[in-house]
Amino acid sequence: SSPEGDASAVSKPKSKTLQLALVFGLWYFQNIVFNIYNKKALNVFPFPWFLASFQLFVGSIWMLILWSLKLQPCPKISKPFIIALLGPALFHTIGHISACVSFSKVAVSFTHVIKSSEPVFSVVFSSFLGDTYPLKVWLSILPIVLGCSLAAVTEVSFNFQGLWGALISNVGFVLRNIYSKRSLQNFKEVDGLNLYGWISIISLFYLFPVAVVIEGSQWIQGYHKAIEAVGKSSTFYIWVLLSGVFYHLYNQSSYQALDEISPLTFSVGNTMKRVVVIISTVLVFRNPVRPLNALGSAIAIFGTFLYSQVTAKKAKKPEVEKQN
Ligand code: 3PG
Repeated sequence: SSPEGDASAVSKPKSKTLQLALVFGLWYFQNIVFNIYNKKALNVFPFPWFLASFQLFVGSIWMLILWSLKLQPCPKISKPFIIALLGPALFHTIGHISACVSFSKVAVSFTHVIKSSEPVFSVVFSSFLGDTYPLKVWLSILPIVLGCSLAAVTEVSFNFQGLWGALISNVGFVLRNIYSKRSLQNFKEVDGLNLYGWISIISLFYLFPVAVVIEGSQWIQGYHKAIEAVGKSSTFYIWVLLSGVFYHLYNQSSYQALDEISPLTFSVGNTMKRVVVIISTVLVFRNPVRPLNALGSAIAIFGTFLYSQVTAKKAKKPEVEKQN
């Protein structure tokens, strides 16, 4: 997923570049850890609504601790700021829960291959909302669509809920980005960490009640089964806790990175992140990958690079900066 931000990279001093490299490294590493423990937990406790809510809960507690210990300045909370966040947080919730539902149904790598098609959604939705794109942008999304389709039809773990979850997640995150840009224009002084903190808190309020309605009645029984499957309750707690802490950490790092780079660099960085996550999770979970599936995934990822190339040229012209 890729939130919005503006500061473009002009020429940066060396320490700044190093700092940014560190944030990127953290972002990737934390995302890998999240993906591994989230899937480990889902394998024995297949309740994505609970886990997704818990992850937002950990983030909310994390922020409350940072703010109360004054490790991070607490932004002034005004009614207009909270109201401006209601839309972006709702779409963030939709993006997060549908990705988690997808993770619970298919191989993590498959969810990320489909999620690499986020630029397609960005172009389509922005067009609906009145933006126009040159033909080469539309052409660049063709390989993404073809690659994802090839990966989907050859995916060993294929399942429609897994596919739909990942696609809806793209819709959610793209709409979040579009609406963040529109509604948060007047709150540019809020830094990435605080912005993401508030999004987590509001998302938790959206998600948890729905989670109770959808899955709540099965949690206790599911919990006992999970402990039985893992053998040791502390191991299960550690998996769930790590998924929550690292979910917050990687998002926090990504929002911090975004304070320093353009949305375009961000989206390229996010695609690279998916490559690293796909490879790591295939290795960790030993998912079988058919050659055509690997080819489809590679074509899709290559398509996102083409897309970033043609939009980078477009973005150089004044006024235009429309990214996923
Ligand atoms: C989520 O649960 O929100 C997904 O991990 C989102 O994935 P992304 O940040 O890689 O888009």
